[in-house]
Amino acid sequence: MSKQQPHEFMSPVWRDGIFKGRVAFVTGGAGDICSAQTRALVYLGADACIIGRNVEKTEAAAIDIAKVRKGARVIGIGNVDVRNFETLKKAADRCVAELGSIDFVIAGAAGNFVSPIAGLSPNAFKAVIDIDTLGTFNTMKATIDHLVESAAAHISPNDDNSPPGGRFLAISATFHYTGLPLQAHVSAAKAGVDAIVGSVALEYGPRGVMANVIAPGPIEGTEGMERLASTDAIKEERESANALQLRPGIRGGSPGIPSGRWGTVRDIADATVFLFSAAADNVNGHVLVVDGGSWRRQGGSMGVGLDPGMQYPSFLLSGEVSNKVKDGRKTTSSKL
Ligand code: HXC
Repeated sequence: MSKQQPHEFMSPVWRDGIFKGRVAFVTGGAGDICSAQTRALVYLGADACIIGRNVEKTEAAAIDIAKVRKGARVIGIGNVDVRNFETLKKAADRCVAELGSIDFVIAGAAGNFVSPIAGLSPNAFKAVIDIDTLGTFNTMKATIDHLVESAAAHISPNDDNSPPGGRFLAISATFHYTGLPLQAHVSAAKAGVDAIVGSVALEYGPRGVMANVIAPGPIEGTEGMERLASTDAIKEERESANALQLRPGIRGGSPGIPSGRWGTVRDIADATVFLFSAAADNVNGHVLVVDGGSWRRQGGSMGVGLDPGMQYPSFLLSGEVSNKVKDGRKTTSSKL
């Protein structure tokens, strides 16, 4: 059995087999959010190819995800960088050769770190644009013909309740709705992701491909939040949620988020199941924000890359940024 129980990656409302006979192609599929999305799809009947840069991590994740359903086929294809179209195309071709089709695509690979514009080199900005925006375009280009084929083969709604096909999903963010300090690179990249999906919805909707976006808010236990949220700020946020007795018993309590909590990978997997299911047959070009209403108070109580007490705009004027976030840089240098 997989280490994860179904209630950790999906809610109990879905019916077994709703994705039987369909194949998902997921970039970033070994990551925290995308592996939960894939797990839910596989649990509900799909087979999958997960794509990543790290061979060992990607292959191990595929083996683990396959354990959620007896007979599931999950292939991990490592050594693929979404910035490189040719390797991505080869991965898509291998997926079709081994599993028979590509019916659902998730463009989930992403890159992030905290940096003010003053500390952002042109190459650093480009790295994130290339992974997020160009990577989403490349993923779509490498798979779109398969999605068109799938949509034609699996018309939905239909009389026999067979699962739909031809669904494209990109994972975005909400930072560009307002702009966000220390996230100029990601804000620009994700605005591009949303724009690409809007065009896919318009150009391929007439061929039956439904293309949508999920924009997650802060999701607990993810690499993304390790990179964005200071450990001190998270600790203070949990303590003030407890002191306020905000939604007692809830995990990830957050006074800064209207729903009172951070999101979970299960929240995002559930939204994905909805968008790929027959329940979303006519949902196209939509951005589904799954953040508890967080973006309406952008930055919430804690912001991105800030320790408790760091206030806008003083931290920018003094050049302070939290060092309690995962940096991920190969070499260290001053941030400002
Ligand atoms: C400033 C930085 C930096 C940092 C890297 N760079 N980290 N600049 N602050 N903390 C700069 C480097 O100095 C270099 O510029 C340029 O970025 C490219 O760096 P490389 O390490 O050569 O790039 P690469 O190996 O391609 O790595 C890409 C990466 C890295 C984005 C920089 O962090 C990465 O691989 N991330 C993948 C995993 C990840 O980020 N997951 C979280 C996704 S979550 P110079 O000028 O020196 O050459 C996410 C959440 C969105 O996206 C929001 C949800 C709510």
